[in-house]
Amino acid sequence: MDLSQIKSVSVICLGNICRSPMGEVVLRDRFEKHGLKIEVSSGGTGNWHIGEDANPRTLQVLRDKNYFVDHTARQVNNSWFQKTDVFLAMDLSNRANLLKLAGKDYSHKVLMFRWFDEDLNHLPQDHPDLEVPDPYYGTIKDFEMVLSMVEKAADGFVNKIRQGL
Ligand code: 4NP
Repeated sequence: MDLSQIKSVSVICLGNICRSPMGEVVLRDRFEKHGLKIEVSSGGTGNWHIGEDANPRTLQVLRDKNYFVDHTARQVNNSWFQKTDVFLAMDLSNRANLLKLAGKDYSHKVLMFRWFDEDLNHLPQDHPDLEVPDPYYGTIKDFEMVLSMVEKAADGFVNKIRQGL
């Protein structure tokens, strides 16, 4: 896929309240800083949190670093594949669920978010080291760790877009 041409990206986790809202907010920040006109959205593969704000600890770690957040959780469905160019999965179960929704016509649009971390992009897409761990049952430290993983991968994503893939 030629990432230099993409117009839209969606970040996907399970609940769309912890990890993928961070991915969405950080990517939007980086795209704005680099003058890239790419729409960013996020979603969850599950339906439990539809309509909710981001988790309070996601809001806290983002706002502590001066990111702007205005989030309402949504569930991804197969209609998203027609309108969105790239889907970035946070973990391997998110990836497996996305691949099921995508079917073979759209499976090329599904990539692991952390694969764009420049220290990890030698790994195959199904490698467990590409997972951003679910912090939902963890502590604020886990949320801080997720944010730093997300920032590193987002920087790598922007570099890839600017150089083409
Ligand atoms: P997320 O975290 O997928 O990063 O938004 C989770 C949020 C909710 C649940 C699990 C993970 N849950 O089981 O409700």
